[in-house]
Amino acid sequence: MSAIFLKRFLQRPFQVASIIPSSRTLVRKVAGKMDLSQPRVIVEYGPGEGCHTREIVRRMHPDSRVILFELDTEFAEHLEKQFRGDSRVTVLNRDAAKLSEELLKRGLGQCDYVVSGIPFSILEPEKKRELLRSTYDSLAPHDSAAFIIYQVTNELVGHCQHFPRRESEYCLQNIPPMFVTKFYKTANGSAHGKNGHSKNGNGRH
Ligand SMILES: C[S@@+](CC[C@H](N)C(=O)[O-])C[C@H]1O[C@@H](n2cnc3c(N)ncnc32)[C@H](O)[C@@H]1O
Repeated sequence: MSAIFLKRFLQRPFQVASIIPSSRTLVRKVAGKMDLSQPRVIVEYGPGEGCHTREIVRRMHPDSRVILFELDTEFAEHLEKQFRGDSRVTVLNRDAAKLSEELLKRGLGQCDYVVSGIPFSILEPEKKRELLRSTYDSLAPHDSAAFIIYQVTNELVGHCQHFPRRESEYCLQNIPPMFVTKFYKTANGSAHGKNGHSKNGNGRH
């Protein structure tokens, strides 16, 4: 799995921004930030070779679905092959900026979680602002809904003031170590115990 990662990094160093996939510890930490006991619509930005996706799919309620936005064509083809047998997983070789358009196309107004591995720090300020705004708007207005990112620095916090609540932790067991930050859609946002889910988020589409 790491061979394709290194290859894509050498091809597009700024876009891929890492020479190896996330560690098992980081993958588990990120998946643990979601309440996957309910049917959910989960979006992932920049899945790469799919290390987080595999864990999400393994843990999620069987009536959930996952929509992947991967800009790199080779990674997207790799993901397509990997999840071919699972109709709950949709692979899009598109920019994460197309989230609201793609949700609408599928009759999904909003989603429950957005997990992001894209290197936000290299995005131009305007693009970054727009992506963070559309991410917020695309999350369903319930207490579990959240945007979850893992990043080398916690610089995104300053750009995410429109999210009313956040929690951050540091994951040392990754190369390089990463901040994992969860931005809640609502001020009462809580990790577990709330039943909300996105409209249309309780079945296969
Ligand atoms: C640091 S890698 C993370 C890969 C994987 N999630 C992991 O944790 O190992 C960043 C990924 O984001 C993708 N990417 C970068 N900008 C993107 C964008 N605007 N939309 C979708 N994917 C993007 C890259 O192609 C790359 O696969």
